[in-house]
Amino acid sequence: MERGWLHGEGFFLCLILHLLHQGRGGTFPINCSGFDQHGVNPAAFQAVFDRKAFRPVTNFSVPTHVNISFTLSAILEVDARLQLMTSFLWLNMVWYNPFIRWNPEECGGIKKLSIATENLWLPDIFIEEFMDMDQTPPGLMAYVNSDGHIKYSKPMRMVSICKLDIFYFPFDEQNCTLTFSSFIYTVENMVLGMEQDVQEISKTSQNVVWSKGEWVLQGIHQRMKMTTVGTNEYNQIVFYVAIRRRPTLYVINLLVPSSFLVAIDALSFYLPAESENRAPFKITLLLGYNVFLLMMNDLLPISGTPLISVYFALCLSLMVVSLLETIFITYLLHLAATQPPPLPRWLHSLLLHCTSPRKCCPVVAPQRGNSGQDLGPAHLPGTKEPVELVGKGPGPREAELSGCPGSASTQPEDEAQKQHLVSLWVQCSHMMDSLLFRLYLLFLATSITTVIVLWNT
Ligand SMILES: *[C@@H]1O[C@H](CO)[C@@H](O)[C@H](O)[C@H]1NC(C)=O
Ligand SMILES: *[C@@H]1O[C@H](CO)[C@@H](O)[C@H](O)[C@H]1NC(C)=O
Ligand SMILES: *[C@@H]1O[C@H](CO)[C@@H](O)[C@H](O)[C@H]1NC(C)=O
Ligand SMILES: *[C@@H]1O[C@H](CO)[C@@H](O)[C@H](O)[C@H]1NC(C)=O
Repeated sequence: MERGWLHGEGFFLCLILHLLHQGRGGTFPINCSGFDQHGVNPAAFQAVFDRKAFRPVTNFSVPTHVNISFTLSAILEVDARLQLMTSFLWLNMVWYNPFIRWNPEECGGIKKLSIATENLWLPDIFIEEFMDMDQTPPGLMAYVNSDGHIKYSKPMRMVSICKLDIFYFPFDEQNCTLTFSSFIYTVENMVLGMEQDVQEISKTSQNVVWSKGEWVLQGIHQRMKMTTVGTNEYNQIVFYVAIRRRPTLYVINLLVPSSFLVAIDALSFYLPAESENRAPFKITLLLGYNVFLLMMNDLLPISGTPLISVYFALCLSLMVVSLLETIFITYLLHLAATQPPPLPRWLHSLLLHCTSPRKCCPVVAPQRGNSGQDLGPAHLPGTKEPVELVGKGPGPREAELSGCPGSASTQPEDEAQKQHLVSLWVQCSHMMDSLLFRLYLLFLATSITTVIVLWNT
């Protein structure tokens, strides 16, 4: 009795299961029996292929969910002038087609099939930043799962517009956006989703980008977005691709040589001001720097004003300024040697003030030593003579020098006074030289520090 009842229940269960199974089997649109023995019967798919012009849904109020992901496989070029990034990516899309399901049990366990994509409806996903013709190779295939999920991958050479900021070149990082969106389907008809976690996309891409090119992939971030155009709302996924330039090439080819030239220019202040070769030396340096700039011009980005251009302009102007300074000092020395005009009173007192405590002109001392040993006592702190000379001297001296130089030079006292004036002028030139050198060093240090600080922020 109990057995019989149990038996009966088992029979009913079996019946129900069988019916359920048949019912489910009946809902599979594709009859795949025989696929494992005779190959795919194209007739079984004909109905699906005929529908490829339409969005594959049974109820048109239901949106198609398209999940996307991509792998950035190479960053080929970043063009700062055209503001374009050329990269290569494999785009993956997954969506559901309810008309293409089959029962794997009926066909020897076939779980997925590859189908030529020209026979299938494809989502019209495009990238807003795309600035080129789509060069997707023809004849791609898509994998179709037995449960109706279609996985489609395509390679893309992508030329995308990207807001490039080259101010920090060559230490710049760029943040390019890739906005994936449907071309015509509004949010009621198509909803975008992520096929992979964005961290996974970022990690895979970083592993795949194997080229040791100029750019390093820093990471990829993602954000969902809705855009409204008129009354239509579109679903969008925005990816932020952060890339960084490898600066080594530019540091070695641009920054190091230019720093060397500036350092040599600064050191050339230690060439004695009296020597004839300070100015030619600086002119040669300037010439060398110009040649360097000409040669390195094509390494620099063409558009915008990167900080490095400011740095180069700064170096060049420092060199020009140092050359002008040398010319000025040479002129002063020449003036002192030929016909020294009377020293202005303020300059004289400044000179006295500066030299007496012997605190501000340590650089002057050695230079003065090799040029004016015989003029030594003239600049001793205790001397009163110069004051008198400047105090009452100007009128008659000018008259003597311009009017009758011959008679003036014959007088030994006048000769001594002139010698003294010459020594004062020489001393003054050296003081000026060392002062300007300090100013130059100060300006050099501040500007280079500023540039470095700006680069680091
Ligand atoms: C599938 O087709 C085969 C013949 O090709 C047929 O025998 C079988 O009954 C069909 N199955 C279904 C569920 O329609
Ligand atoms: C189609 O989908 C909408 C929204 O999900 C639902 O309200 C409607 O009943 C569906 N129509 C049919 C015929 O199933
Ligand atoms: C897309 O992704 C969501 C969430 O990960 C998932 O629920 C959904 O089934 C996916 N859709 C398709 C068509 O793969
Ligand atoms: C890129 O820019 C977007 C928006 O401007 C910002 O949300 C994101 O954090 C930036 N990513 C990086 C790595 O800087």
